[in-house]
Amino acid sequence: MEIMPNGFPSYSSDFTETMEFYRIETEKKLELLCGSFCEENDRYKSLYDAAEYSLKAGGKRIRPVLTLELCRAYDGKLSDALTAAAAIEMIHTFSLIHDDLPCMDDDDMRRGRPSCHKAFSEAGALLAGDMLIAMAGKVICESSLDAIKKSEMLSCLYDCTIGMIEGQTVDISGNFTDIGGLLQMYSLKTSELLKASCVMGCIAAGADKEDILKAKEYAYNLGLAFQIVDDILDVTSTEEQLGKPVGSDEEQNKITSVTLLGIDGARALAAEFTEKAENILCEMKNSSFLLQLTDLLLKRKK
Ligand code: IPE
Ligand code: IPE
Ligand code: MG
Ligand code: MG
Ligand code: MG
Repeated sequence: MEIMPNGFPSYSSDFTETMEFYRIETEKKLELLCGSFCEENDRYKSLYDAAEYSLKAGGKRIRPVLTLELCRAYDGKLSDALTAAAAIEMIHTFSLIHDDLPCMDDDDMRRGRPSCHKAFSEAGALLAGDMLIAMAGKVICESSLDAIKKSEMLSCLYDCTIGMIEGQTVDISGNFTDIGGLLQMYSLKTSELLKASCVMGCIAAGADKEDILKAKEYAYNLGLAFQIVDDILDVTSTEEQLGKPVGSDEEQNKITSVTLLGIDGARALAAEFTEKAENILCEMKNSSFLLQLTDLLLKRKK
């Protein structure tokens, strides 16, 4: 694979190879950042072990891919986006650890292993999640980016994190009855972190305001499609395939796109939001990789 002077694979590189490149670079960065935390904090080993356990369990790493790819699309440097890519994965991992807790979705498996609270303890998982929220901000603050980019990234990251938490609050309250209310909740609990991923990639590259607006619109639609596919997989897939329990939504009596529209209706709606996301990409430059990714996420099996 040909690497350009800015550290990114050239646009002639194969899609799968580029995905793999992004995964490896993200995981190397996470390893480096976590390593430095753990070494300095030997006293609280079990806390860092729990955070690392969930962070390193794997996962699709879609959010870092979005950060890195948006930075590539707007001609930024890989090294300027990697910390943000790691930070968004930390926030996402915190959201999963807390989402699985008995007081939330009460799920015992995540990313193919026992959930954090099963492998450690409930309090341990709660605190590991808390630690990841804090770590994400700290690593951006301590990165070598210029001060303006750092503050823009932090503002975006935490604004979207608040949105995700609001979405989770509406989710557990069950305080909505129709598809409009459900999609509003999904735009918060799922689209917001995808928005942070995309926008931080744009900020890293110094993209202009109009490009950032497009990226936000793309993330909004991608997030809705992504969450609807997640609902579908919860009823059509297997625990082995997903690495997390199936039938969890039904067990928790959740209202989802599948309960409101049926599987076929949900599939059609996911396709609709995917198409909207792809139409926005068509107005963006260098978007061929993102077009493939968006399509793949609709068809994903895990
Ligand atoms: C799961 O996200 C939570 C949702 C927003 C549906 P992912 O499906 O991206 O989870 P990982 O990171 O691959 O484990
Ligand atoms: C997304 O919803 C959760 C987060 C925002 C963390 P789900 O509760 O459906 O996610 P999964 O299915 O447990 O991954
Ligand atoms: Mg949930
Ligand atoms: Mg859940
Ligand atoms: Mg789900």
